[in-house]
Amino acid sequence: MSTPSLLILPGDGIGPEVMTEVRKVIDWFGAKRDLAFDVSEDLVGGAAYDKHGVPLHDDTMARAQEVDAVLLGAVGGPKYDELDFSVKPERGLLRLRKEMDLFANLRPAQCFDALADFSSLKKDVVAGLDIMIVRELTSGVYFGEPRGIFEEGNERVGINTQRYTESEIERAARAAFELAMRRNKKVCSMEKANVMESGILWREVATRVGKDYPEVELSHMYADNGAMQLVRAPKQFDVILTDNLFGDILSDCAAMLTGSLGMLPSASLGAPMANGRPKALYEPVHGSAPDIAGQGKANPIACILSFAMALRYSFDQGDEATRLENAIEAVLASGARTADLMGPEGGTPLSTAEMGDKVIEALDQSL
Ligand code: NAD
Ligand code: IPM
Ligand code: MN
Repeated sequence: MSTPSLLILPGDGIGPEVMTEVRKVIDWFGAKRDLAFDVSEDLVGGAAYDKHGVPLHDDTMARAQEVDAVLLGAVGGPKYDELDFSVKPERGLLRLRKEMDLFANLRPAQCFDALADFSSLKKDVVAGLDIMIVRELTSGVYFGEPRGIFEEGNERVGINTQRYTESEIERAARAAFELAMRRNKKVCSMEKANVMESGILWREVATRVGKDYPEVELSHMYADNGAMQLVRAPKQFDVILTDNLFGDILSDCAAMLTGSLGMLPSASLGAPMANGRPKALYEPVHGSAPDIAGQGKANPIACILSFAMALRYSFDQGDEATRLENAIEAVLASGARTADLMGPEGGTPLSTAEMGDKVIEALDQSL
């Protein structure tokens, strides 16, 4: 088979900082595991706007459609706050998700043993946690029409529309059930069927798809209760299936179960391509973190774990993905911490680059 291709889009803020560490990891797999990638790099978000006046150039979009996987850092930042909505950095990321039709966003939240003490929740609430949020990513209120800011009488009205077709719900639900079959066979679907018609349809379709997976136990929960249950007793969940907006919020919430937003990776998957691999984009759940950008403080683990997800879901290298995850676990167990993982008791945090180097050392030790 030809060398798999990987398009890297570092983006803005801490995006390029964490991606530098991922590049070390990619190079390590090429040198030490004979896993070479044809890597190309391009601009997205504010960085693309600065050069091209748009947050995603058409050529970059075309390249993203061709490659085996895209790896993205983060987009956005205060520098771009005043830009017209249509060219804001975030529009570049949303265009990638929409045009690649990446409908299933997998956001795992795992609590590494070494961090169980560090979560803002009690240790026994999070120790051993391993849940997977499946967030629908190409529809819902992020994309529904009508949308915009309109004049209405003597004031303006801002409109966004929550809209889901049955087939959009069905394919996200199927992704969740398929994952559950390989995990603990439980799906909890979260919507607000008590107040939203789209929620009623969501619940109906999830129930129907569930009939194809009789071994999987399906439950339903209103998303507000789901948020509460996630912090009360997160280990009751295995796979959580939810829509685009609720999934955005619930996954940030789940981040704190693992200790830091700097720990959470994600995979955004679409339909299989001609070569059998799914269309795929991998990115950390966190954003460009303007408050710490440029200071070498960012935790690169979320982005490195996103590459581990690429190894697993795009490149059929589950064992190598596990090797990388185990290396990160070993680094954390050794007490290595970036600033976001340090408590009030203090200590000297590692820089972004030092954390990347620790991961490489642990990978070397895995051989
Ligand atoms: P954020 O995720 O960038 O930051 C939230 C908080 O978490 C900050 O205090 C930040 O310092 C911290 N944090 C995030 N990642 C970290 C890491 N790797 N290591 C250590 N600390 C980390 O969210 P925000 O501040 O609400 O948004 C900033 C910008 O990022 C906005 O423009 C937003 O639209 C964008 N954003 C982009 C993405 C993405 O590209 N996928 C995701 C979320 C937000
Ligand atoms: C995320 C982000 C994005 C979202 C933004 C940057 C478009 O918050 O990936 O979680 O809202 O989906
Ligand atoms: Mn988000």
